[in-house]
Amino acid sequence: MSGVAFPPGFQLVPIHQSQPRRKFDCGQTDVNDWLRTKALQHQDKRLSATKVLMDHSDVIAGFYTLATGQVDFSDLPEELIRKLPRRALPVAVIAWLGVNHEYQGQKLGDQLLAQALCDCYEAGKTFSFVAVIIDCVNDRAKTFYQRWDFKELPGNPYRLFLGSTTLSAMMGQI
Ligand SMILES: CC(C)(COP(=O)(O)OP(=O)(O)OC[C@H]1O[C@@H](n2cnc3c(N)ncnc32)[C@H](O)[C@@H]1OP(=O)(O)O)[C@@H](O)C(=O)NCCC(=O)NCCS
Repeated sequence: MSGVAFPPGFQLVPIHQSQPRRKFDCGQTDVNDWLRTKALQHQDKRLSATKVLMDHSDVIAGFYTLATGQVDFSDLPEELIRKLPRRALPVAVIAWLGVNHEYQGQKLGDQLLAQALCDCYEAGKTFSFVAVIIDCVNDRAKTFYQRWDFKELPGNPYRLFLGSTTLSAMMGQI
């Protein structure tokens, strides 16, 4: 799986200083604040990696942020932990994702999520993890992700997971 074909004129690139981050508005304050004020600093500190989708006139159409993390064995569902050691387990985290309000409803959110999952899959060939985790900012975001087979973690309705085996199976489909 080589990656998602974004519409002509759009380019996915790593976040950097010269992009107009402060103009980004997806309608969700905490997601905006992340991109405007924290994403670049966290990337510089190697805490997370952010890719931004630039349109033909250098406006940020969307973005996503990936990070690594750990989830305790006891927080994961039975289907995932069979045969796994009883300790903190490595996960990939889709930490943030947003689409500029002017571009919403044009499938860019789905395309960014597909590319984020491709990135996780590729990274997982080198640095293994047991699941991809997403923390949802609200019920609408949760509905968006659940369309992609993400399931609730037991006892944590706003934390969703996608097992690595499911991710590998998905890669033939996106
Ligand atoms: C959620 C978000 C990324 C979706 O982006 P988008 O480009 O508008 O979505 P798409 O056009 O790719 O829509 C794909 C599907 O998701 C649905 N969808 C879109 N936005 C949705 C939302 N906020 N909640 C639930 N479903 C949504 C669409 O109806 C569409 O479904 P369909 O294929 O059955 O028609 C965008 O609305 C956004 O940036 N929201 C604010 C930030 C946010 O909530 N981020 C996620 C948590 S970090």
